[in-house]
Amino acid sequence: MVDVLVTGGAGFIGSNFVRYALGRHADWRVTTLDKLTYAGRLENLHDVKDHPRHTFVRGDVADSKIADPLVRAADVVVHFAAETHVDRSIMSAGEFIKTDVFGTFVLLEAARQSTKLRRFIQISTDEVYGSVAEGSSQETDELKPRNPYSASKAGADRLAYSYFATYEVPVIITRASNNYGPYQFPEKVIPLFLTNALDEIPVPLYGDGLQVRDWLHVDDHCRAVDLLIDAGTSGEVYNIGGGNHVRNVDLTRQILLLAGKTDALIRHVPDRQGHDRRYSVDTAKLQRLGWTPSARFDEGLAQTVAWYRDNQWWWRPIKDADPAYRSYYTSQYGNRLP
Ligand code: NAD
Ligand code: DAU
Repeated sequence: MVDVLVTGGAGFIGSNFVRYALGRHADWRVTTLDKLTYAGRLENLHDVKDHPRHTFVRGDVADSKIADPLVRAADVVVHFAAETHVDRSIMSAGEFIKTDVFGTFVLLEAARQSTKLRRFIQISTDEVYGSVAEGSSQETDELKPRNPYSASKAGADRLAYSYFATYEVPVIITRASNNYGPYQFPEKVIPLFLTNALDEIPVPLYGDGLQVRDWLHVDDHCRAVDLLIDAGTSGEVYNIGGGNHVRNVDLTRQILLLAGKTDALIRHVPDRQGHDRRYSVDTAKLQRLGWTPSARFDEGLAQTVAWYRDNQWWWRPIKDADPAYRSYYTSQYGNRLP
């Protein structure tokens, strides 16, 4: 059996990965380590929580008493756990440094003591390249993160590399573009705009809405990580992107159309501070290993809209009843949305 530790497995991408991994690999035993922050929810794992090859451990990656034994028992670590929302990092960056940087350090320290570990996947992000005016970022490009979230991820990205270079920990670093799909917390643009639209609530489009993101279906992301565990080379960085470069205003119109609403719900609101204009990654290196994104964006988005429409049991308790979410929404949008 292969022992796989998935940190952050109760979050959006992590929970999709746990589900994917259990279905794809009959010889994997998966342990999820997750602190269950506001973004981590056992509901995300509702159908695999009690799977015979899955164990859930609630804990902080930055707590070595919990993290050390789990890392040392693992053949493979896939490290998703992080604070992930740019807007929250602009409000307050402390938790980003604690989890994304220090938490990664704690896991890497355990990894370097391990006699068993054969792969440590550090889930980084395309945001570490900073805003890319034209063309696409190569893995060898300079890192120029521009907000506290992406700076914390860049720190973790390079720290992970240093544990390969110094201690030969079998690290691989992935830099993926914007993910979409089921179980994404309704603070990120697609689920936020969609769930607002379903309730006829205006959608707050930052600035001129001409910023560009490259959308990657979460299932394609899971396949890429799975491939890299065996086919990737230690010490290397791999970009992962969907090849779907869409302006925010066009994305918004598409979401509203799929939700059966009109553009009248769009509100142009003051921009995000330091808003990165465009991201784009060159994925040729990963494609040479045999991966290509399979989801068509229009189909994937329509399926995602259908999922949120059909699974209101999942998001209504957050949006309608969670005081912490209400408080975040008010402080983030209260002064922006009239
Ligand atoms: P998410 O916010 O949905 O989930 C993060 C998970 O990490 C949650 O379950 C949370 O409880 C857990 N967590 C947070 N702090 C923790 C701690 N100290 N100890 C243990 N668990 C903790 O995030 P996501 O969108 O699924 O992103 C997962 C990873 O992928 C992150 O590393 C993120 O930087 C990276 N990434 C995300 C995207 C994207 O578009 N969502 C794109 C590229 C890279
Ligand atoms: O690029 C990868 C990154 O994608 C990940 O590393 C991050 O964890 C993930 O959160 C995501 O970051 P973004 O900042 O791109 O995602 P977000 O959904 O917050 O915003 C997407 C775009 O939509 C961005 O240009 C800002 C805009 N936006 C977002 C929100 C929440 C709005 O116009 N209005 C909003 O209310």
